[in-house]
Amino acid sequence: MRRRHLPAVLRIENRSYPRPWSLGIFLSEISLGEARQYFVATLGSKVIGYCGMMVILDEGHITNIAVDGSYLTKGVAKRLLLNAFDVAVGLSIKDMTLEVRASNQIAQRLYFKFGFEPVGIRKNYYAESNEDALIMWCYDISSSENCQRRQKIRGELEEAGLITSVQDSAELPSESESLLGEEPPLQGSFEDVVQTQGGDVDE
Ligand SMILES: CC(C)(COP(=O)(O)OP(=O)(O)OC[C@H]1O[C@@H](n2cnc3c(N)ncnc32)[C@H](O)[C@@H]1OP(=O)(O)O)[C@@H](O)C(=O)NCCC(=O)NCCS
Repeated sequence: MRRRHLPAVLRIENRSYPRPWSLGIFLSEISLGEARQYFVATLGSKVIGYCGMMVILDEGHITNIAVDGSYLTKGVAKRLLLNAFDVAVGLSIKDMTLEVRASNQIAQRLYFKFGFEPVGIRKNYYAESNEDALIMWCYDISSSENCQRRQKIRGELEEAGLITSVQDSAELPSESESLLGEEPPLQGSFEDVVQTQGGDVDE
């Protein structure tokens, strides 16, 4: 994620959450170098989703994930999480965690697919709506079981035409009708643009 993506990211953020992150929070997050990994999913030049991960030693913490309302249920979040896991494995992260609203069944289903399990509750974590957070962990992300889960998801996305090949997992096919629906074909790619070292967030 780069600074130039932030207007679109904020539009999605504001529509996705009752208490959205501000521009300042995103700017601060993407300035934190390797300790934060933020990705955007793009279709042509359009940002259609994003995902963030905080890295603490050998743990990865998914901080945020959201998809544009026009592109929901098309596999974009799965694609973003696959990317986050790929990066996590590359950084020798062992376990991944996140918090999710107790009522957010849709997101929980997504996380179950990646091997996250509920391990606890943070009472009243979302104070503005008086709601608890479910704490989920995916332990040992490089276990064969977890790798197989992700391989299965990757295969499904490939079948749906959302990934051109396993080897080139950062690319979407150039004319992905299943993702584009009625829109004219665009060059589609997921940008795993995460390098924010040295405050290099101006592009
Ligand atoms: C949660 C969210 C990111 C999912 O994005 P998405 O791109 O629509 O998700 P995907 O198409 O990749 O679907 C992944 C899985 O999520 C679950 N899911 C997604 N949409 C669903 C729906 N409407 N009903 C039930 N399950 C759903 C399914 O398990 C799905 O897998 P399947 O298609 O194999 O059944 C999206 O709904 C969103 O932006 N929500 C608002 C922000 C939010 O709640 N973020 C999570 C904070 S913890």
